[in-house]
Amino acid sequence: MKGVVLAGGLGTRLYPLTYATNKHLLPVYNKPMVFYPIETLVQAGIRDVLVVTGGPHAGHFLRVLKNGKELGLRHLEFAYQENEGGIADALRLCEDFGDGQPLTVILGDNTTDADIGPAVQSFREGAMIFLKRVPDPQRFGVPVFAEDDPTRIVAIEEKPAVPKSQYAVTGLYIYDHKVFDYIRSLSPSGRGELEITDVNNCYIRDGTLRWAELDGFWSDAGTFESLFRANAYWAEKARQQQG
Ligand code: G1P
Repeated sequence: MKGVVLAGGLGTRLYPLTYATNKHLLPVYNKPMVFYPIETLVQAGIRDVLVVTGGPHAGHFLRVLKNGKELGLRHLEFAYQENEGGIADALRLCEDFGDGQPLTVILGDNTTDADIGPAVQSFREGAMIFLKRVPDPQRFGVPVFAEDDPTRIVAIEEKPAVPKSQYAVTGLYIYDHKVFDYIRSLSPSGRGELEITDVNNCYIRDGTLRWAELDGFWSDAGTFESLFRANAYWAEKARQQQG
């Protein structure tokens, strides 16, 4: 399995921090943020990775990640997203890299200590998403479960004012090659982006979306509060491991 890290965007919610560099290179405790999703992939046995980035500081990634060897990668590639067209628009750039095979996709501002290795190894086709119970689901994609079957997702709503469950759809996904046809079928959302939630709804409609709950810590880091939470968690975890 190959992996994709989506690390584009302007990071406007973190201005003024992101005037000087890309959001995904900001520190999370003792490492640049983007190390964490790459380490999650490496831990799952994925060593061929494409990092999609963009914006004015895209060149900074090369100096930080170099050829990926220090992080345990066998092959590291970069792609440049020309505009801020959203997560699904960034994923569109990975079609040649995927070469018809499934891809594990992780958002560059998501940090987790969950092990997705078993899900990666058993994946065959369709889509796999990972959920996490959160106190503020309205900030995320939120799954709606069937009334007669609480294990079946009937839709995902992006940042709903009134969430229909307590779960966030995290920024970790596994897709088969059909993902690129689904992306081509999308139109921009209200915020002018191609939404990954709309991709997931395509898989729900064709009956091939599966899900698992992430076992462990998970947070995004795209706001001051979540960036602080991620820093606090990883600092405390390191302190406990040392002591
Ligand atoms: C994105 C997705 C959302 C998902 C979240 C996870 O939100 O659109 O569905 O729950 O990542 O981090 P964004 O960070 O673009 O607001």
